[in-house]
Amino acid sequence: MKTYLVTGGAGFIGSNFIHYMFRKYGDTIRVINLDVLTYAGNLENLKEVEGRDNYTFVKADITDREAVSRVFAENDIDLVVHFAAESHVDRSIRNPEVFVRTNVLGTAVMLNCARAAWEKEDGTYPEGKKFLHVSTDEVYGSLEEDGTFFYETTPYAPHSPYSASKASSDLLVKSYIDTYKFPANITNCSNNYGPYQFPEKLIPLIINNALQGKKLPVYGDGKNVRDWLYVDDHAKGIDMVLKKGRPGETYNIGGHNEKQNIEIVNIILETLQEMLPAGDPRRSYVSKDLITYVEDRKGHDRRYAIAPDKIRTEIGWEPETMFADGIRKTIAWFFEHEEWMKHVTSGAYQKYYDEMYTDRS
Ligand code: NAD
Ligand code: DAU
Repeated sequence: MKTYLVTGGAGFIGSNFIHYMFRKYGDTIRVINLDVLTYAGNLENLKEVEGRDNYTFVKADITDREAVSRVFAENDIDLVVHFAAESHVDRSIRNPEVFVRTNVLGTAVMLNCARAAWEKEDGTYPEGKKFLHVSTDEVYGSLEEDGTFFYETTPYAPHSPYSASKASSDLLVKSYIDTYKFPANITNCSNNYGPYQFPEKLIPLIINNALQGKKLPVYGDGKNVRDWLYVDDHAKGIDMVLKKGRPGETYNIGGHNEKQNIEIVNIILETLQEMLPAGDPRRSYVSKDLITYVEDRKGHDRRYAIAPDKIRTEIGWEPETMFADGIRKTIAWFFEHEEWMKHVTSGAYQKYYDEMYTDRS
């Protein structure tokens, strides 16, 4: 029975990954979820699994060396899936330091503790041990609107404090691979969407605002392009890289689904109109009239687009969910989880929203 140490498992992608793994492997795996529960971590995301004998939650900070070492000492960890991070670009522009602390120092602590637990006297590692560092396409910088793509060989050129901190963490992982022959893979994925995504990110923010008849803030000219991937497809990619990824390799994961932000907003509005039942009062105001162009994000990357050729040819991964289906599933999930949205948007979220959007011309 393999034991997975998942960091940041109470966040958006981490919780979807844990659900995916239990759906796929049931009682044949063990999962330890280590998460400090920042504003983005939510144990409500994991209610359905918390009673399982093969699931354990540990509340700890990845920068806390003692706490992380203890988890390794008390458990025979086979696979680390390292999601824990500060993940929102706009927050990184306001407050960069916590991004360096969590994303860089936290990754250094995770690497140190895993190496200390796994490395044998002769400098090799037992069969089956692997550290998978979950990273982002943002490390590659910004593309022109010219049909080019990010490959694993594209030089790093991060622009935001968030992407710079993720790039630094990737380089630390690469240094462990080169220096200690550390058994790791890095995955660089494009924009995810799906259930449990915190409404600071574009898609859940637009769904939530539209359903309340609030303005839909579109940065700049709305023509920045992102490459959207349904979160389960990302989870599947991670599982496949854990199994089949060659030691030390990086794999880009992306959906071949480039869309301008304004297209995304329009698709959400059209899909909401289709899905809201006849007679629902929200049908009267869910419309393009809510769209409001606001001041652009500082240093806003123009376009991201992943070439997932390597993961397809080497590992056999391909995205399964068409955007039209994924967005319907996502909206259906938000319809069924109004209480979840109420909980995550109470209190601190209102303050965040006011700071970020009020007076944004
Ligand atoms: P998220 O912000 O939803 O979740 C992050 C989780 O990490 C939360 O549960 C939080 O409590 C936890 N965490 C934060 N700081 C911690 C600390 N110091 N110690 C322990 N736990 C801590 O993020 P997400 O969108 O699920 O992203 C997960 C990972 O995937 C990140 O590394 C991110 O860079 C990467 N990624 C995200 C996307 C995307 O579109 N969301 C795309 C590619 C890669
Ligand atoms: O590319 C992968 C990255 O995708 C991940 O590494 C990050 O963790 C994740 O947050 C995401 O980053 P983005 O900055 O691309 O995602 P976000 O949802 O914040 O914004 C998507 C696009 O929408 C971006 O061009 C900015 C724009 N936007 C965003 C918000 C929140 C708006 O126009 N209005 C908004 O209110």
